[in-house]
Amino acid sequence: MQTKGRILPATAEAIAEAAALLKAGGLVAFPTETVYGLGADATSEAAVARIFAAKRRPAFNPLISHLPDRAAAQGLAAFDSRARALAAAFWPGALTLVLPRTTDCAIARLTSAGLESVALRVPAHPVAQALLRAVGRPVAAPSANPSGRLSPTRAEHVAAALGGEIDLILDGGACEVGLESTVVGLIGPAALLRAGGVTRESIERVVGPLLVPAEGEAAPVSPGRLLSHYAPNLPLRLDATSVRPDEALLAFGPAIAGGAMTRNLSAGGNLVEAAANLFQMLRELDRPGLAGIAVMPVPEHGLGAAINDRLRRAAAPRGEGR
Ligand code: TXA
Ligand code: MG
Repeated sequence: MQTKGRILPATAEAIAEAAALLKAGGLVAFPTETVYGLGADATSEAAVARIFAAKRRPAFNPLISHLPDRAAAQGLAAFDSRARALAAAFWPGALTLVLPRTTDCAIARLTSAGLESVALRVPAHPVAQALLRAVGRPVAAPSANPSGRLSPTRAEHVAAALGGEIDLILDGGACEVGLESTVVGLIGPAALLRAGGVTRESIERVVGPLLVPAEGEAAPVSPGRLLSHYAPNLPLRLDATSVRPDEALLAFGPAIAGGAMTRNLSAGGNLVEAAANLFQMLRELDRPGLAGIAVMPVPEHGLGAAINDRLRRAAAPRGEGR
């Protein structure tokens, strides 16, 4: 039997076990030089849904995908000359690049919260490096703290706050930087999306002046506003209790009958499963020729809050909340 919240010193055996857990869809906390990350297979919608469930986020925030080197990032995103220069200068390190995702990008839609961009980082910490090489897939990892709490810089912080939710915590000691990575957006003009371990000045020496969100606005420049989230072309009708023949149905729990086509977020009413299916199913139902997408009610508890947040944004009049 596996017990949750186990802390193991990051030996070769522990790293091998952590990699196996990640490949099987588990949650593993691991050290990076910035902060501890709460990792899951970034290519698995279901594994990433577990991250959001563990962090108890009220909304889906896009997550950073971690890779062992620049070569492993090949094929996931479009690297323009600025991205190549920044990667060459700061990877491995405390820099995250937000780049356009490629059409055949393997990163799950939920990892990037439905955005057309992906956030990539190559951490320098030897434990993170060894783990990422052993997994052989991108690993999604937000800071390993519950939403709204301080980021963890020691394995004990992770165990105290989230231990019950995590399959294994790799202990690599205290994080050297202790501050999250700097996030630079390269969708359009280079922008400082989050200050962090690499200074603005050192980045500007490579790519020139960065756009910086206005004073006092740094954190709330939500990616949802800054970069257009995926919103279906069809209008959404929420809390549907019936469906018309010209509508697509996004069901939850036992599906109501009718509709031109149906996708069920979770027939059994499982919110983690529903989160994993959300972005993919919205895309599948968004067919030209239909009148709209009827969405059955999703309960507001647990991951339901984040699912409903996303659905309300997608249902909002166009130009708002996207
Ligand atoms: O140091 C770090 O960056 C740590 C370690 C574990 O790597 N991770 C971390 O992740 O701080 P998280 O999820 O707590 O923060 C991710 C940041 C958020 O500010 C998020 O909005 C931004 O990256 N981000 C991720 N994907 C994005 C995207 N596609 N577009 C814009 N911003 C994005
Ligand atoms: Mg965080």
